[in-house]
Amino acid sequence: MEIIKDPTHFEIKKAAKALKDAHLVAFPTETVYGLGADATNEKAIKRIYSVKGRPDDHPLIVHISSINQLEKWAIDIPEYAIDLAQKFWPGPMTLILKRQNLAKNFITGGQDSVGLRIPAHPVALAILSEFENIGGEGIAAPSANRFGAVSPTTGLAVYEEIGSYLSPEDLIVDGGPCALGIESSIIDCTMSNPNILRPGVVTLEMIEKFVKVNSCSDLSLNTIKTSGLLPNHYSPKAKVFLNMLSEPGEGFIAMASIPTPEGSVRLSAPKNIEEFAQEMYEALRGGDRKNLAAIKVIVPEGAGLVDAIKDRLNKSSSKEHSN
Ligand code: TXA
Ligand code: MG
Repeated sequence: MEIIKDPTHFEIKKAAKALKDAHLVAFPTETVYGLGADATNEKAIKRIYSVKGRPDDHPLIVHISSINQLEKWAIDIPEYAIDLAQKFWPGPMTLILKRQNLAKNFITGGQDSVGLRIPAHPVALAILSEFENIGGEGIAAPSANRFGAVSPTTGLAVYEEIGSYLSPEDLIVDGGPCALGIESSIIDCTMSNPNILRPGVVTLEMIEKFVKVNSCSDLSLNTIKTSGLLPNHYSPKAKVFLNMLSEPGEGFIAMASIPTPEGSVRLSAPKNIEEFAQEMYEALRGGDRKNLAAIKVIVPEGAGLVDAIKDRLNKSSSKEHSN
């Protein structure tokens, strides 16, 4: 595997070509790093599942470069979904839509829907448009971590997570730290009103400016398999405990205004909620790099982006550590 830092135009073309040749390319998005493969190539997609160690009935998000590509992948797109796409793309939002024939079972996990997103990172967009220039239809990219682990938000974190599982011709494109640091909001648009399957930077409040969102109780009726919806996700090796002060030798993550308990290892001291989200995964990873057994996190108060932070932290902490 080769690591490319701050890619030139030439290297972007090389990454697009590698994808077309069925290799894997990890690349930055504004949310987290993705592990990309040609979304129409079953062999390439199978490698994503094996590198991630992910069960093969968990669907992948297909990344595209413009709204014009939407109808290649989706049918029966409701008007509200077009509104959301026009408002929030390129950006941290994934729409789940009824699939077009191009979205095969190996992408959708056998479901009748497909996840689509236009990312806002310039490197991701450049790779996507070069890929489309050479005949590509879309890049499938889950977060570039092993199944159940914390999503990588830096090139180094990608290397640490999956470097040893990649093949010589695969690439890691390092475009620096991700600006948002938390995965996209996932909005199911297969019904007359949307459901939020995974909260993110595009919040309930922002979506409800366009369309009424189904209430949470409707979600229990939902049988869609979303790995991010499972508990035991987003977990570092260290045990994560929420809203407890750390003991000496333990890791501590909290807003800058909260002082570090004596003898603890401060892993992050963000000044605002956006910074909290942006640094959160690197902070958890920092605990693992230091081999800490436990990390205590004081969860910030509030709604909006805080809902997304809480969602991920609740999952990080709610596990029996089996691996
Ligand atoms: O920000 C993001 O969304 C990042 C970047 C790389 O774009 N990607 C990402 O992918 O987080 P992944 O695979 O780690 O998480 C996507 C989630 C998975 O839990 C998957 O099950 C769900 O989206 N998903 C994908 N397609 C779906 C579908 N058709 N129906 C329901 N859930 C779907
Ligand atoms: Mg993921």
